[in-house]
Amino acid sequence: MTTAHSPRCFALLPCAGSGSRAGAGQPKQYRLVAGAPMVRHTLAAFAAVARIAGALVVVAPGDEALAWAGAAVTVADCGGATRAESVFNGLNVLLAQGARADDWALVHDAARCLITPALIDALIDACLPDAVGGLLALPLADTLKQADAGGRIAATFPRAGKWLAQTPQMFRVGLLRDALAAHAASGFAGITDEASAIEAAGHRPLLVRGSARNFKVTYPEDLVMAEILLRSASA
Ligand code: CTP
Ligand code: MG
Repeated sequence: MTTAHSPRCFALLPCAGSGSRAGAGQPKQYRLVAGAPMVRHTLAAFAAVARIAGALVVVAPGDEALAWAGAAVTVADCGGATRAESVFNGLNVLLAQGARADDWALVHDAARCLITPALIDALIDACLPDAVGGLLALPLADTLKQADAGGRIAATFPRAGKWLAQTPQMFRVGLLRDALAAHAASGFAGITDEASAIEAAGHRPLLVRGSARNFKVTYPEDLVMAEILLRSASA
């Protein structure tokens, strides 16, 4: 006998990168921004969303930097060689801990510490009734250029209809796990976000308008911007 249930929403935060483009001797997700490690701001946004049933943070093997996280957050040190592998390993942990295949995973970069509860809620509102799921994304504001090897423009693309993928990306745990599993043998080649795996499996994820503030801290100057925005929000 099966029991009817409402699918739950889990946050899954890949947090196992080395932050090579951000410089400094420490992975960027642990750098202090507005008085707290970056990932703490990220987790606080998810903790403020009532429909998030739990959060799983995937860190690098042996990483104990999240000792402060407390019981509300599960930390799994199963980070992989790529972001996709870290997410794949995290989904397997979610399933092993009782998540069902039709529960939702909201995969979100630990380094996108400017995410807000309102943006997370907007994504959940848009995706819960959807058969496939989707992602926050931003319509391209500027003209897109293709460079040649010499740093000159080889082609210009009209920006109309082009979007920049952000996170969270919200898909069913089982669908996303199987979509990623198909790329495990290739080392997840070409899988740069969850949507690309879902697309490769033949589905068409929903684009949900995000915000310019939800940028991924990648370069040193992004840390300065994140500091300014987080301090202005708490002022
Ligand atoms: N990430 C991960 N496992 C990896 C690589 C990345 O969990 N093997 C996580 C990062 O910690 C980050 C998110 O995926 O929260 C987005 O990746 P990115 O911005 O590329 O972070 P890094 O890989 O750490 O940075 P870089 O590419 O500059 O080295
Ligand atoms: Mg990276």
